[in-house]
Amino acid sequence: MRIGVLTAGGDCPGLNAVIRSVVHRAVVGHGDEVIGFEDGFKGLLERRYRKLDLDAVSGILSRGGTILGSARLERGRLDEACDHAEELCGELGLDALLPIGGEGTLTAARMLSDAGMPVVGVPKTIDNDISATDRTFGFDTAVGVATEALDRLKTTAESHQRIMVVEVMGRHAGWIALESGMAGGAHGICLPERPFQLDKLCEMIEERFSRGKKFAVVCVAEGAHPAEGSMPYEKGRIDQYGHERFTGIGNRLAAELERRIGKEARPVILGHVQRGGTPTAFDRVLATRFGWHAVEAAHRREFGMMTALRGNDIRLVPLAEAVSELKTVPEHRMREAESVY
Ligand code: F6P
Repeated sequence: MRIGVLTAGGDCPGLNAVIRSVVHRAVVGHGDEVIGFEDGFKGLLERRYRKLDLDAVSGILSRGGTILGSARLERGRLDEACDHAEELCGELGLDALLPIGGEGTLTAARMLSDAGMPVVGVPKTIDNDISATDRTFGFDTAVGVATEALDRLKTTAESHQRIMVVEVMGRHAGWIALESGMAGGAHGICLPERPFQLDKLCEMIEERFSRGKKFAVVCVAEGAHPAEGSMPYEKGRIDQYGHERFTGIGNRLAAELERRIGKEARPVILGHVQRGGTPTAFDRVLATRFGWHAVEAAHRREFGMMTALRGNDIRLVPLAEAVSELKTVPEHRMREAESVY
């Protein structure tokens, strides 16, 4: 079999572990040939690829990023790929394509699959917002980075009796904010799923100071926004999903808390540091398992599917199911977090 693999969309720790696993299982386990397309679907369209053998994937398990490079593809070029899906496969001699990516990549994978390309998708995203899988790799690493940041920021916040507002990634889903906020003992967590009440947040922090505490830390997802009328309104921009996207919520919230509470506040925007660096053991294992199962699915010719973690098992689910809706934080998870502020 000739198997193509590519990584598309925003990168995430664990991508290299999938690539390595695919090569091991396919080349050693089945005697296949594996080729890696550079820079996601762009490399597929531009026929930019290289052969991946055991040497090519040696030593990459613990490396962040992706040895293949990643990119986002414009819609027009994706349509072009769909129009020529079968010819492209024939020309490249591809028996299976394994795209590794988030919601956008899996949507593209589904379109290519519908157009006749033999595709098995592998989900990835630090945001953990793909509904068909219990977890995505990259999330555990990102939560670890954000938790460490919260731990570190608490000591400096205490020394200076400040409020720290830590902005973490998560445009549409607040999983990183929720779990790092809980693990790092934040005194307030703001998620995109539920507009926050600034008055309530101020009250909570003031009450903490009145108990003699010297500092407070708030963990806010980049997509969080205030309830209408609770903070001076600043219009966001509408993103490709039709959602209003707010930028700089960390900065705005820190300024507002300082003004209202009368204590110094500092914003810390963690940004892409959450996506870089070495994956945790959990993410390496999940990524490796996904790679193994994607190759097996290709050999069984189960195309149009995606690997997914369900409980402790890896299952295959239709790509259509995978991209139907985002997995957001349910209310009961938020209540659990609030009980330990
Ligand atoms: O989807 C993953 C993600 O990390 C989001 O949380 C974040 O908003 C986005 O990617 C940033 O992506 P870019 O690489 O385009 O800055």
